[in-house]
Order: sequence, then C-alpha cells, then structure tokens
Amino acid sequence: MEKKLVFATNNAHKLEEVSAMLGTSVSLMSLNDIGCHTDIPETGTTLEENALIKARYIHEHYGMDCFADDTGLEVDALDGEPGVYSARYAGGAGHDSVANMKKLLARMEGVTDRRARFRTVIALILDGEVHEFEGIVRGTIATEPHGDGGFGYDPVFIPEGYDRTFAELGDVKNHISHRARAVERLVEFLRRG
Ligand code: IMP
Repeated sequence: MEKKLVFATNNAHKLEEVSAMLGTSVSLMSLNDIGCHTDIPETGTTLEENALIKARYIHEHYGMDCFADDTGLEVDALDGEPGVYSARYAGGAGHDSVANMKKLLARMEGVTDRRARFRTVIALILDGEVHEFEGIVRGTIATEPHGDGGFGYDPVFIPEGYDRTFAELGDVKNHISHRARAVERLVEFLRRG
C-alpha cells in the first residue's frame, strides 16, 4: 500500500524536488493538502530544532506521519551566517531573496575566502519516533548574482566541481543539492523500513 506522508511545506519548488525523488511508493501531501494553513513558528536556534518543531506540530495536530526540513546557508568567513536565519537575513518578514543576497554580498565584499555550504536537516516522525537526516553541499559565494533558476540564494552559490551557480544549473541542482542529499537519506531509510 502507498505510504502517506506529510511534507510540512507549501513551497512548490521543494515539493517538486522531493516528490520526484520519492517516486510512487510514497504519497506525499503538503500542508495545503491536509488543510493546515498555520504558519508554524520557527522559534529554534538551530536547523535541527526548527525541523523538529514543524514535524512535531503536524504530528500533534493531525496525527500523521510527517517530515519537515530546515535549510541554512553557512558561510565560513561569516562564522556560519546566515545559517538558521537564512530566510530572514535582511530582516522584515523574511523570504526576500534579493534583499538577502544583497546583504550577503555586501558582507562578503573584499573577502577572499568565499567558502560556504548549504545544509539541510530533515526531521521525520514515523510511528511516533523521531529520525533526523542531514544533507550538505559545499561551494563558494559568487561576487555577483548569476542565473534566474531556482530560488533563495541560488544565484550566488557555486557548488564545488562546477563553475556556474545553482540558478544556472537547472535540473542538475535537484540531483546534487543539500536537500537532495538529505532526501536521499530519508528515502533510503523509508525503503529499509
Ligand atoms: P528553508 O528552511 O528551506 O525554508 O530555507 C530557509 C532559507 O534558506 C530560504 O528562505 C532560502 O533563502 C534559503 N534556501 C533554502 N534552500 C535553498 C536552496 O536550495 N537554494 C537557495 N537558497 C535556499
């Protein structure tokens, strides 16, 4: 039987990436699909805490197996900034990618060590048990944005082994990204079960 699993997000990009990887063995449901319209507060100070807060909320209120992710861009020269605050880096309500990138590039002006990584943490609650999975992709921060694909910081992140940004790499990103790596681990785990 198809396993029903809630992915605690309404981000269409993420749902697309993740459902392509999960294949047909899992019926993936979004927050909209289960009628959850709450903006679950991400009050944690680590990616792990935030992923778990979201997964726990769904499990407690809807009683369904679910997973949630939290991602941060961690820049070496900025001691891991913007990290857990990636969405709200430029302030305000957050999710203003252009403003976030602008702030990041300003803080990186003149900085020669441009190493960074995207890190995704997935918290899964399955049959009441918590499991965590991590995915990391290393790379560097470009000096200016390039490309118009993807979302968030994609136009300024050049993954290791490539000379183009995530925003220029099209579908390649879906195979090598931090989220893809974390989801691979989740999928392996679900297959074993
Ligand atoms: P979230 O936890 O996935 O919502 O990610 C938090 C923030 O990190 C987003 O608002 C984006 O700014 C950034 N982010 C997450 N994933 C990606 C990605 O794949 N590419 C670029 N930026 C990302």
